[in-house]
Amino acid sequence: MKTANQEIMPITRKINEAGNVEIGGCDLTELANKYGTPLYIFDEATIRSMTRSYKDAFKSYPKMRMMYASKAFMTASICKIMEQEGFGLDLCSGGEIYTAKSAGFDMKKTLFNGNNKSYKELKMAADYEIGTISVDNFYELMLLNDIASELKKEVKILLRITPGIECHTHEYIQTGHLDSKFGFDLTTLDEAIDLIINEYKNLKLSGLHAHIGSQIFEKQVYYDEIRVIFKEIKRIKDKYNIELNEINIGGGLGIKYTEEDKPISVYEIAQTIIDSIEKHSKEYNIEPPYVYIEPGRSIIGTSGVTIYTAGSSKQVPNGRRYQAIDGGMSDNARPSLYQAKYTVEVANKPEEKETEMITIAGKHCESGDILAKDITLPVIEEGDVICFYDTGAYGYSMSSNYNRVLRPAAVLVNNGKSDIIINRQTYEELIQTDVIPERLMNA
Ligand code: LLP
Repeated sequence: MKTANQEIMPITRKINEAGNVEIGGCDLTELANKYGTPLYIFDEATIRSMTRSYKDAFKSYPKMRMMYASKAFMTASICKIMEQEGFGLDLCSGGEIYTAKSAGFDMKKTLFNGNNKSYKELKMAADYEIGTISVDNFYELMLLNDIASELKKEVKILLRITPGIECHTHEYIQTGHLDSKFGFDLTTLDEAIDLIINEYKNLKLSGLHAHIGSQIFEKQVYYDEIRVIFKEIKRIKDKYNIELNEINIGGGLGIKYTEEDKPISVYEIAQTIIDSIEKHSKEYNIEPPYVYIEPGRSIIGTSGVTIYTAGSSKQVPNGRRYQAIDGGMSDNARPSLYQAKYTVEVANKPEEKETEMITIAGKHCESGDILAKDITLPVIEEGDVICFYDTGAYGYSMSSNYNRVLRPAAVLVNNGKSDIIINRQTYEELIQTDVIPERLMNA
């Protein structure tokens, strides 16, 4: 069965009677008028269709624990949706912890990840009683045990390992290969376990965690990752007589940004994961464990689009035609960072013939601020509404104030209704954290 991550467009996207693109029953040109641009738009139906696909695909394995990877896109409203969908949250910073807590999320259903969690962040995690902390390195083991003993608490942990699995994705978003900044490599794992057993009495080791990368289109890497984790669990059982009963296999399922992308469905990946767990539980004679999965991009990516307004344009003599829009690398860093490609439409004339080869340029003072290179679109005029698909994941969450451009607003659309979930930043907010020291005032 196909799942929404295999589509380029949100599941509710259609062309309405006015001939404009509509998502969640809302005309994008009307949203542009109402809220201004750039604007992130999230289709609630697509988000929920993905969370439900995950639940359905894994229903034959009741010990599955779905944790939405908040780094892909997190706001208080997304926390609410995940709560309603029965998902937990994977958190990776004090800011994400704070957001979840403020949204009233049940912190027992959260996990804390990261390769350099600070004392303050770990303390916050312990104070808020985050369900599980995935410990990445020796320094963190020591810090966390200190905190837990000060608080006279026992903290449940997983150990993040580097499974040595290579997957075919952009180098910057590959994480499971041996030369990685994340996790214990397998040669140092026992040293960590010895410390937990002999010294770090306030830490309770419940399992192992790995994450192999992001925007993955292959099944086999998950099968292999699980085999590596089970092999370690079996080895630990034999050596220490401890049977770890939780594993976390990370996130990573890919989505379809352009026609070239061929992501697999949630059902296919679920089957591979379940097969690997069942096979390796039997082979190593281990009770099937609780299994955490942390999808981010595949849950939120396809649901989100960004709309912009077309502004100036430039024809290079005998060269490219550049069409500028009112956003750019500050609201979508992915093209300049990863050469990421997107599917683009003109939302007020999606059915017009695509006769022009153009390059969509952002408004930032930087030549590399190009959002889409050499794509074909209908002839664009100033004021047209340009829609970039699949910006839901790692768009807003990686946005910046470069050139002191304001962060855009985000709306959630559903059944013809649109609601703000993030207000557009204001100039007052932009300068709120600026400070002028006295001595500069008096100079
Ligand atoms: N779990 C861990 C431990 C992770 O590091 C990540 C992503 C995830 C889960 C979620 O992975 P997903 O299902 O979203 O692929 N900024 C990059 C992606 C970086 C991913 C980092 N870790 C991009 O825009 O492509």
